[in-house]
Amino acid sequence: MPDLEAILLVGGQGTRLRPLTLGTPKPLLPTAGVPFLAHQLARARSFGVRHIVFATSYKASMFEPVFGDGSAFGLTLEYMTEETPLGTGGAIRNAAQALGSAPDAPVLVLNGDILSGHDIGDQVRTHVERQAAVTLHLTEVEDPTRFGCVPTDPSGRVTAFLEKTPNPVTNRINAGCYVFTRSVIDSIPEGEVVSVERQTFPGLIEAGELVLGYADRTYWLDVGTPAAFVRGSSDLVLGHLASPALPGATGEYLALEGARVSPAAKVEGGTTVGARSVVEPGASVVGSVLGDDCVIMSGASVTDSVVGDGARISAGAVLRDAVIGEGAVVGSGNELQAGVRVWPGVELPECAVRFTSDV
Ligand code: GDD
Ligand code: MG
Repeated sequence: MPDLEAILLVGGQGTRLRPLTLGTPKPLLPTAGVPFLAHQLARARSFGVRHIVFATSYKASMFEPVFGDGSAFGLTLEYMTEETPLGTGGAIRNAAQALGSAPDAPVLVLNGDILSGHDIGDQVRTHVERQAAVTLHLTEVEDPTRFGCVPTDPSGRVTAFLEKTPNPVTNRINAGCYVFTRSVIDSIPEGEVVSVERQTFPGLIEAGELVLGYADRTYWLDVGTPAAFVRGSSDLVLGHLASPALPGATGEYLALEGARVSPAAKVEGGTTVGARSVVEPGASVVGSVLGDDCVIMSGASVTDSVVGDGARISAGAVLRDAVIGEGAVVGSGNELQAGVRVWPGVELPECAVRFTSDV
């Protein structure tokens, strides 16, 4: 297959991940030791992608200092920024100005918050063989109402695209990885706010164009919520999804440079311990993401949570499904559960908050 070009959609605000995304856009959040996008870039490269255009908007200037011209990743990277967000379709149209592909060539488009184990090469081959206008990767989820619901006919042709519908007709959903024929991207109006999910795909279906589904059941996750984000990171550390970008061996935990994990601490479930962070004897950290320079004190228990850089979790504090902002301090005896978020720099004194159930 000739070199493939890709557009990476990374302009969203990541509101569901606040406060983590107040200072850092979602695609740059440290995930299994590296910025989230490093995993997507490495996977795309493994399928022959060499040129990737980032479609940026929210905190646009933060991407280039991290990934530069891409040479460190064996890629050529470019950055196309929307002054005001143009939606997914407008962003794809804007980024396409930097593509070199011919009108009939396939172009890969990726949502910037997806971990997927599917065979991108096979998706592209299917698209080319069937001469589709667009080929959508589809997966199955229990609750399709939070996604784009995508029914198909027996030949794989997409018959409708129902974004975030309260009445889904199938559990099969848009998995956020598309192959577009280049000329179809060029037919999206330029400089306008356009949603591929609400306008472009329904419009193509209506016009009788071939919109194809590429369905599979491999690993798939949208990391757009705190619970999914910690799950994604720990799945990478545990090796549930292989990533060429993982900075270490797979296992119960990944300790970054200078991290100090006491042999008398319990650290497991795919936890990442950030650089120079300390996990004291008797602490328990399970399935969590610890940033750099954190301290988890003796007897603290951290499960399925994100702890931002420089935060301190005191002796006996209990965190479950919690997000702790950078530099925050959780005093001893606090029990933070069920999606509690502590804003950066906040200091919770001893026993200031205690939940005994998740009502
Ligand atoms: N450049 C740019 N500009 N990027 C944008 C914009 C924009 O205006 N709006 C959203 N994006 C990017 C986000 O950064 C993200 O990578 C991607 O587009 C999708 O946006 P999300 O906000 O994550 O959408 P979602 O998760 O609610 O739904 C989308 O993904 C689901 C799969 O995870 C839809 O494509 C659904 O149909 C799909 O099922
Ligand atoms: Mg998303």
